[in-house]
Amino acid sequence: MIKIAILASGSGSNAENIVHHFQGHSSVSIALILTNKADAFVLERAKKLHVPTVVFTKNELSEGDFVLNLLQKESIDWIILAGFLLKIPENIIKNYPNRILNIHPALLPKYGGKGMYGSRVHEAVVAAGEPESGITIHYVNSNYDEGNIVFQATCPVLYTDTANDVAEKVHHLEYAHFPKVIEETIRKSTQY
Ligand code: GRF
Repeated sequence: MIKIAILASGSGSNAENIVHHFQGHSSVSIALILTNKADAFVLERAKKLHVPTVVFTKNELSEGDFVLNLLQKESIDWIILAGFLLKIPENIIKNYPNRILNIHPALLPKYGGKGMYGSRVHEAVVAAGEPESGITIHYVNSNYDEGNIVFQATCPVLYTDTANDVAEKVHHLEYAHFPKVIEETIRKSTQY
């Protein structure tokens, strides 16, 4: 069984969608949901879904090997970032080469980088008058939002759209594509 850990900092609707997708899967399982926020709604979702959770602090992630040790102890093969807001430290990136995927709610390389998350991304897209936005699923390297792109999907942005409207369209794309792209990327890479 290939074991996935999902890291999420917020609501966790993508995490939940991914868990549903892999329920009963013959080769891939969601073994763990990790968060840096003790009050993140993703913890409620994980409880209902019966997925074990761990909460860690920013320092436990960035200093020392607490999180890496945990991932290794649980024999985690892949890491999925689903609305995770902290930078993944070098020790984890080195130990999981091409085994960490992130989803970004815009069409990278535009509207990415430090500080570009959540509603800020959609507000920037609307303010710039972009005719379209979308999602980018990419490998994670040492720089925010700069790893190789695996998949993109687009949605139109109408001149009447608010940032909330764009967020809703982008969420639909995330739910439709992220689990399938994770499955396909793992299958291609490990040929299970
Ligand atoms: C998503 O839009 C994702 O692309 C971004 O953060 C949001 C997380 O939403 N990185 P949720 O917590 O999965 O509901």
